[in-house]
Amino acid sequence: MAPFPDKAPALSAAGLQGRRVLAIGESLAALTDGPLAGAQVASGAIAQLEGLKLADCDLVLIDADACEAPALAAAVKALALAKSPPPVLMTGANLPAGLVRNLLRLEHADILESPFSPEQLTAAMAGLLAGMAAPPPSPAGASRCWAVTGAVGGSGATTVAVEIAHALSVQEGKERVCLIDLNFADGAAAAYFGATPGMRLADFGASAERIDQAMLRAFATPVSERLDLLAHPREPQAFDAASRETVLRVLEIACESYDWVILDMPRHRRDWTLEALAGSDEVLVISELTVPALLAARALSDEIETALGTGLKPRIVLNRLASRMFGPAPSMAEAERALQRKALGGVSSDWEAAAASVNLGGPIAQHRPKSKIVKDVLALVETLAAESARRDATTRAA
Ligand SMILES: Nc1ncnc2c1ncn2[C@@H]1O[C@H](COP(=O)(O)OP(=O)(O)O)[C@@H](O)[C@H]1O
Ligand SMILES: [Mg+2]
Repeated sequence: MAPFPDKAPALSAAGLQGRRVLAIGESLAALTDGPLAGAQVASGAIAQLEGLKLADCDLVLIDADACEAPALAAAVKALALAKSPPPVLMTGANLPAGLVRNLLRLEHADILESPFSPEQLTAAMAGLLAGMAAPPPSPAGASRCWAVTGAVGGSGATTVAVEIAHALSVQEGKERVCLIDLNFADGAAAAYFGATPGMRLADFGASAERIDQAMLRAFATPVSERLDLLAHPREPQAFDAASRETVLRVLEIACESYDWVILDMPRHRRDWTLEALAGSDEVLVISELTVPALLAARALSDEIETALGTGLKPRIVLNRLASRMFGPAPSMAEAERALQRKALGGVSSDWEAAAASVNLGGPIAQHRPKSKIVKDVLALVETLAAESARRDATTRAA
């Protein structure tokens, strides 16, 4: 993908500045003038480890010598089973093996043997925090971002975005996919997946740079093994609450963290819309086969193409193709005449499958794998992916 403009500075450069550290054991909490300078340090007790998430705290420091070993081992074990726990650094002399074993169940944990120097503590904390923002398994810059937008309301943008994201996530290989619902106020993607949205952007105010890969992981709702959803809880003021910098930062970090990023775009332009589209490799405009929708699709594609001025041409997808049994719907060829351009492809109409999917929660491909919608979306994905690969090859050769 192309870089999103106005990149915020990387969080790692700021070290511990502003990081929320939970320190268990008085000796550690007392280090606020030394290695913990700049961090927001809260001194706590073992009981606070229960259910602790990365969203609550950036780093946990535990002085095992100040705690009762069995209680600490149980608390650390529970933490390791929690969803996205924060990284843990444990200090102590002669740590019991059971405790160490439980600590190592955590994905991000380290041990520092007492006594240690302030420099050793700083290095261990920096190592853990850097590990949280570790580069994704895929090669940097290899991510692809496709934006999906509807020509008119109800044309099927969310449906197509959900099916595309699912199709990419079950491809061979290990590629990871994220669907981002940018309809902050009233997005439907979470409901379509039967998932709970977990991304609150208002909390960041003007500090977009606080968002990093670890935080994005905490925001994301996993919907299947290789597919995550980033969606905002329904909230009337959500669009005003999320700053342009925050939205662009989320997109930037998502593209660093996933192989594929699919955007469900709001139809009305926000102050970040053009940048989001400019950072995308493809823009899909979903239209239905009615004359007003086709006219809107043509106008919207022209508007986007002109506003971007990068040569990126939105691709039109005709959704809910039906046999002519139900009235004078335009054919694909007639639609392309109205659009004055070729469509990328079409998606068949299948109300039963679409309704089953949204009512049961989950992609159509999961509940009605034989639906024509699934086959059509797969063909779209293959066409687009093949074109992208061809374009990449041309760019490399140039
Ligand atoms: N190909 C299709 N066949 C049948 N129903 C569809 C199809 N695509 C979408 N729908 C249905 O149309 C309605 C609107 O779709 P949605 O994806 O929410 O549109 P948008 O996001 O553009 O507003 C939903 O009830 C959805 O299930
Ligand atoms: Mg929608």
